[in-house]
Amino acid sequence: MIDKLLTEHDHIRRTLNLLEMQFLDLCRNKKPDFSMMRSIVVYVQEYPELAHHPLEDMVYAILLEREEKVDLLQKLVSDHTELEQVTRNLRRSVEAHVQGDFSEGELKQLLSKFLIRQRQHLYIEEMEIYPLAQRTLTKEDWRKVQSVVPQGNDPVFGTRTREDYELLYREIEENNK
Ligand SMILES: [Fe+2]
Ligand SMILES: [Fe+2]
Repeated sequence: MIDKLLTEHDHIRRTLNLLEMQFLDLCRNKKPDFSMMRSIVVYVQEYPELAHHPLEDMVYAILLEREEKVDLLQKLVSDHTELEQVTRNLRRSVEAHVQGDFSEGELKQLLSKFLIRQRQHLYIEEMEIYPLAQRTLTKEDWRKVQSVVPQGNDPVFGTRTREDYELLYREIEENNK
């Protein structure tokens, strides 16, 4: 089960890497692919936020019951809600920018904030919390977590990439070679 969470982190990281390239294009006056940028943000809303966060929330709830690293865990749980707001805001802003209603400077600020926050969240989980979960959760606990795994497939990295994400998947693969 921890393997599933780690693999999802790898997928998120590869997705962020591609978004970072788009962000750097914007900073370097090369025209980024705004539709790809939007696609990345929509994917983050559609899968990592809907499928990955709830599993972690369950793992963190178990750790909180055992009173382990309480402050950090509470921060990560509230981070999930905040990250979802940051993502929603970024999606709206990319769409508004394409319509000419949101400045490039503000979009750069939002993109850098999004990338930093997402990565910082991953690092804390990988450094502090996943190792703790591996040490602390019992087989029975992991079974409970397993039981809330959503039915849906990852539309980008799942067994079959959904048609509307094929281009995104190819770009991610290409960017992470
Ligand atoms: Fe998380
Ligand atoms: Fe995570």
